[in-house]
Amino acid sequence: VTDRARNAVVTGANSGIGLETARGLLRAGFHVVLLCRSAARAEAARADLAGSVEGASLDVVRCDLGLQADVRRAAAEIGDRLDRLDVLVNNAGLTIRAREVTAEGHDVMLAVNHLGPFLLTNLLLPLLEASAPARVVNLASDAHKVGRLRLDDLEAARGYGLLGFPRYGETKLMNILFTRELARRLAGTGVTANAVHPGGVRTNLGAPPRLVGAAVGLFLKSPEVGARTSLHVATDPALATVSGHYFARSALADGKLSAAARDDAAARQLWERSAALVGLDA
Ligand SMILES: NC(=O)c1ccc[n+]([C@@H]2O[C@H](COP(=O)([O-])OP(=O)(O)OC[C@H]3O[C@@H](n4cnc5c(N)ncnc54)[C@H](OP(=O)(O)O)[C@@H]3O)[C@@H](O)[C@H]2O)c1
Repeated sequence: VTDRARNAVVTGANSGIGLETARGLLRAGFHVVLLCRSAARAEAARADLAGSVEGASLDVVRCDLGLQADVRRAAAEIGDRLDRLDVLVNNAGLTIRAREVTAEGHDVMLAVNHLGPFLLTNLLLPLLEASAPARVVNLASDAHKVGRLRLDDLEAARGYGLLGFPRYGETKLMNILFTRELARRLAGTGVTANAVHPGGVRTNLGAPPRLVGAAVGLFLKSPEVGARTSLHVATDPALATVSGHYFARSALADGKLSAAARDDAAARQLWERSAALVGLDA
């Protein structure tokens, strides 16, 4: 039971950690907007959630985060539908094995894992700030440790590395640096920004072949458990003013950050270059 209507947007809310994050927020009394790229998968998630949470208040906004034009349209749609935004969970992400390019000409992992959430968040910032206290939660990963930020090659023209894993790690490193710079810029606004490592979770990430997925899955958490840290950071009253940090197992985990993930000068440069790539003023 909440004292006022609170709204949340969860990206990639039709699968894995995002679906369970949406369910947890619904149970906590939020009105939840599911931001999904597939209308059919979004409707399946809506039916699943509505069937499992009594009185669930839900909406769907369709958006391919890999396409900036679509992100701009979706952000405008959210602004039209919501009079306030209390929580934005940038959860959607993907990993692919070899480099691909979007219809707009950007590297796919850069576009979906970093530029999309970067642009969406920036476009929603006025609404978040007007709704303060509000929170931005970014799904990063301990995989950031294998990532090396190549500021001179953000589009990964020089490739993804072995099976794309170093590149995935690099985009997760970007998520952490984005979070730090965002928190710095939001200081004093009442809007917080934190990054989350959900743990190893049994989801569709990386589209594992069925047998491999089943075998590896034995060692992974359920999506419900995997969503706990996101929910903790999004809702715990004790974290109302905590910003710019990294969380794992529902606890502060800054000690797990690589040196590259603490580089605030790199975070500023990444922000400036990202702003240029999405056509925003830095
Ligand atoms: N699973 C883990 O062990 C683990 C560990 C560390 C961090 N993470 C992070 O957790 C987050 C959630 O991943 P997950 O494990 O729950 O994987 P998942 O089951 O594959 O879910 C990913 C979600 O992102 C969506 N998505 C992918 N590309 C998109 C695009 N272009 N536009 C909009 N939505 C898009 C997917 O939509 P579709 O269903 O349409 O593809 C799906 O809803 C990711 O950021 C991931 O990096 C996961």
